Amino acid sequence: MKNSTMGAIFLPIFSVFINAQSLKSPDGKFEMNFQLKQGVPYYHLNYNGTVVIEDSKLGLRLFGNSPVKFASEITKAEDVQYDLNSGFTKTGERRDAKNEIWQPVLGEKKNYINHYNELAITLNQASTDRSIIVRFRLFNDGLGFRYEFPQQKNLNYFTIKEEDTEFDLPTDMKAWWIVADYDSQEYPSQTTKISEIPARWSQGVDKHSSQTLVKDAVQSPLMLKKEGRDPLYINIAEAAVLDYPASNLEVDVKDFKFKTHLTPDKNGAKGYIQTSSVSPWRTVIVSPKAEGVLDSKMLFNLNEPTRYKDTSYIHPTKYMGVWWEMIIGKSQWAYGEPKTNVHIDGTDFTKLTPNGKHGANNTKVKEYIDFAAENGFNGLLVEGWNIGWEDWIGHSKEFVFDFITPYPDFDIKMLNEYAHSKGIKLIMHHETSGSAANYERWADKAFQLMNQYGYDAIKTGYVGDIIPRSEHHFSQWMINHFYRIAEKANEYKIMVNSHESVRPGGESRTYPNWVSAESARGTEHEAFLGNNPDHQTILPFTRWMGGSMDYTPGIFQTKLDYYFPGDKRFVKTTLAKQLALYVVMYMPVQMAADLPENYRKHMDAFQFIKDVAADWDDTKILSAEPGDYIITARKAKGTENWFVGGITDENKRSYTVDFSFLDKGRKYEATVYEDGQKADYIDNPQSYHIYKKVITSKSKISFNMARSGGFAVSVKPVQ
Ligand code: NOJ
Ligand code: CA
Repeated sequence: MKNSTMGAIFLPIFSVFINAQSLKSPDGKFEMNFQLKQGVPYYHLNYNGTVVIEDSKLGLRLFGNSPVKFASEITKAEDVQYDLNSGFTKTGERRDAKNEIWQPVLGEKKNYINHYNELAITLNQASTDRSIIVRFRLFNDGLGFRYEFPQQKNLNYFTIKEEDTEFDLPTDMKAWWIVADYDSQEYPSQTTKISEIPARWSQGVDKHSSQTLVKDAVQSPLMLKKEGRDPLYINIAEAAVLDYPASNLEVDVKDFKFKTHLTPDKNGAKGYIQTSSVSPWRTVIVSPKAEGVLDSKMLFNLNEPTRYKDTSYIHPTKYMGVWWEMIIGKSQWAYGEPKTNVHIDGTDFTKLTPNGKHGANNTKVKEYIDFAAENGFNGLLVEGWNIGWEDWIGHSKEFVFDFITPYPDFDIKMLNEYAHSKGIKLIMHHETSGSAANYERWADKAFQLMNQYGYDAIKTGYVGDIIPRSEHHFSQWMINHFYRIAEKANEYKIMVNSHESVRPGGESRTYPNWVSAESARGTEHEAFLGNNPDHQTILPFTRWMGGSMDYTPGIFQTKLDYYFPGDKRFVKTTLAKQLALYVVMYMPVQMAADLPENYRKHMDAFQFIKDVAADWDDTKILSAEPGDYIITARKAKGTENWFVGGITDENKRSYTVDFSFLDKGRKYEATVYEDGQKADYIDNPQSYHIYKKVITSKSKISFNMARSGGFAVSVKPVQ
């Protein structure tokens, strides 16, 4: 039963947990209680005496004891006795604590603090004589816990039918979410009460090249807010998702309860496990302030330190790309006529009739190299350089690309030499069309080719249904595929930026060369069905919690009727907001996505993109509310330069930045980029105003943000 009044939530909590094991956070503000009720494990979480998570069940259901199970077998009664969710007694308890500082290879701050108290409880199921461990870590910003499956006589191999971890919230709350899908994360963000999720759910669905929706369920990370006099911001997510599928959350609107729903393979199996092994961490970040959630590095802390011997090749990247012009339809990935039936190992691509719009041609790539080099970038992405794009999508072609053969008009040697002579590295593009099996076969050759020509970064992509055809984008095999590629890339000293890959859960601590990922609705969707003006104020609270996103901002020519008269598509922000995204969104791999011709018209505003850093010694979330606004200040790595960015949703908003975070007694020059007085994301997106001002730590600057507008400031010490 749910508490019927808010008052009941604040009841003192002692006495309820007779027989409970209690764990407190280092600062004493959080308390987690573990309890067995008739052999069923439950946990409970309080913050400052307020219930955050009511008694919530733990446990997994398994398929029966046969080695492999398929969909047709899943109803067998024998399965029941193999479940790991009841009949437990507590046979052990160990406590531990840690307080360490570690340095991410690329990060939002120089130092991440990993400070927690730990409780590991061993549970034995007498009827099957199997033991599991539930390990809890309580930090000053929330709770992480996971299941551990030690190797033992009666637990060696098993197949997961479902993990049933619950998150039972005490009351209805505001929720920011996207629809659950085994194959896509590129859905528009929704904002409703928990109780309204099923009613709104269908409106959150649009069409994707590969999609397998989970009705009424949502994806993690999920952002929640308990509204009222003492608000609480709660983020439910997962960390260290390795050799295990990614999870969604089913919602129970009667109890305001969420439950894990793992991504299955197409046989219905949700993880083939060999002991000893561990589940991902389930996480609940809690803060009385929205800024506290964005500050949390808990998901990263719950991942293991990297075992890579050399990380010196991993560097922040500012790049441009022969890309946006394909996305909007001005040029094409394919060299021949699209929709032509081609064979990678048979077609003579030099004999195809060129379609005349191939983007990755020598002349154009050189022009982009020139512009990127003149403006201080260090990378240039070129998509559509390799054979196979004529029929790359929608045919479930296994051998769709070889990743090593350039089109006839792309001179790989000449272009790399030209780029290197100007301080630019080309960024390799490996679209797999979802044929991950094919990519694994070619990866060594592809990476050798990259080493030969001096590429040190790839953008991968997984558009379309996955091959092997038994798999979904976020099922266990694919999770393992993503890490196999990251590890192999590390062998060749290559950084990975993946699209359509699984949302991260802090794994970049362990795999620091997996520098960025898309894994959500990025800027490209502005050229499809569009992103709502509040989208960028929500993503940092959801998709970004576990790792950086390749959002690809920097679109100055927001209205696409500039290219195609009558075209109604437009990027739903002002130009100044596009600048602010470089600070608000953490992106160590940072794209300036628009065409050189559009930047040339606004070189004064482009200066901010040229100046802004991509790697940071410090980050301060000055003010934030999911769905409304975010104001962030960051200090560039190894310098005394600061950058401040502010964005708003569809509402105009003013904000005064207090520069008290600057060094006392020092003078700085601030260059301010703000919305023009009449700027508006629909009527007047390109109106902006730039000015310079000398400031100190005592300065305050006020900004008026237009509808879906923003501001950006670069701050440098006066010598
Ligand atoms: C989808 C990616 O998100 C996009 O950036 C890329 O250009 C296309 N796939 C083609 O690979
Ligand atoms: Ca995409």
